[in-house]
Amino acid sequence: MPNNILITGGAGFIGSYLAEHFLAQGQHVRVLDNLDPQVHPLGPPPYLSPDVELIVADVRDRSALNDALDGIEIVIHEQFRARRSPTASS
Ligand SMILES: NC(=O)c1ccc[n+]([C@@H]2O[C@H](COP(=O)([O-])OP(=O)(O)OC[C@H]3O[C@@H](n4cnc5c(N)ncnc54)[C@H](O)[C@@H]3O)[C@@H](O)[C@H]2O)c1
Repeated sequence: MPNNILITGGAGFIGSYLAEHFLAQGQHVRVLDNLDPQVHPLGPPPYLSPDVELIVADVRDRSALNDALDGIEIVIHEQFRARRSPTASS
């Protein structure tokens, strides 16, 4: 019986590797990620497995977080706020 796993920030570098790992184990993986434009300027990353259930929302959105937690047994928190590069600021 697969576990239901939620990875916050799961579209990012570490989270997407974890998602692949758990999918390969036969687990069900849901990702909650706001696709921060600083990290994902081109939108959803092509490396994120299509087998992931992707919810595009901010972890600070309580309603979205509650929905994302529905049926979840394990939460892995990899959400990370990228620091704005000094050269990118105006
Ligand atoms: N990358 C490394 O080498 C490394 C090494 C050790 C530890 N870590 C830790 O692992 C964690 C993740 O790092 P990473 O390299 O995967 O970062 P990342 O920037 O690649 O991924 C973070 C993800 O969080 C998402 N995100 C940002 N703010 C969000 C919000 N408010 N709501 C929902 N999603 C949001 C982004 O869109 C992105 O997909 C961090 O805590 C980092 O310190 C990373």
